[in-house]
Amino acid sequence: MNISTIVIPAAGFGTRFLPFTKTVPKELLPLINKPALQEVIEEGVRSDIKNFCIIISEEKQAIKNYFSHNKKLEAALSLTGKSALLDDINQLIDQCTFSYPLQREMKGLGHAILMAQDCVKEDFFGIMLPDDIIVDEQPCMQQLIEIAQREQAAVIAVMEVPQEEICAYGSIKIGTTLQDDLVEVVDIIEKPKPEEAFSNLAIIGRYVLPTAIFDAIKAITPQSSGEIQLTDAITHLAQNGHKVLAYKIKGKRFDIGRPAGWLAANVYLEARR
Ligand code: G1P
Repeated sequence: MNISTIVIPAAGFGTRFLPFTKTVPKELLPLINKPALQEVIEEGVRSDIKNFCIIISEEKQAIKNYFSHNKKLEAALSLTGKSALLDDINQLIDQCTFSYPLQREMKGLGHAILMAQDCVKEDFFGIMLPDDIIVDEQPCMQQLIEIAQREQAAVIAVMEVPQEEICAYGSIKIGTTLQDDLVEVVDIIEKPKPEEAFSNLAIIGRYVLPTAIFDAIKAITPQSSGEIQLTDAITHLAQNGHKVLAYKIKGKRFDIGRPAGWLAANVYLEARR
């Protein structure tokens, strides 16, 4: 199983950070001195991935600009001997390829992922949600890729959360237990009330999925809100002959899609430096 592409959905409005996100994409919020999206892409690179397919909207061209050379700035920094300030980001730009499919309507995570269909060439690919920052010795994406390759299966990242918090996540229904930290997924419910949750194993924003997910996204019925949920499409796979596993990831996870989580991630990363 060869996995060379990661899809990153980044078209959302970032409403939790308004008014800041009126003009600046939330994916470019800083983690210390670096946009959160760069931190996510670096996790992908450390997992041996070079192709990144970033789903954006027309209003989020700043993301495209960030992952392109800025010749004027480079020339100015070189005159003052400060070129090294851009070394990390320029290495990333030179090392990776980026594509930017547009999501023109906000119709849910499943819909966003569907926009990446033409970017994915192999049978399996990764998805990283940029709201989730996961810090561990072994990059989280690599943890999933290793299991996907060993088990020849789709793998989604999960972690145990307190029952009252499961309403913010997809909750998985566990089938066979393969090992302490690896279980089979037979069903998923998206953001359930605590009493309706299948388990307290919550989906975290890292996935390895087969390209069959694109047909599954097209096959499922949107929710009454019109949103097309990725979790419904993954359930569709699991219930139609695909092996879908959930892996309890190692590492510390921050939800930087919320101001408190973003702040906590900054404090933690600064202390680690
Ligand atoms: C998305 C997924 C959800 C998952 C969560 C992880 O929800 O739909 O299943 O548990 O990411 O962060 P969102 O937080 O984007 O609403």
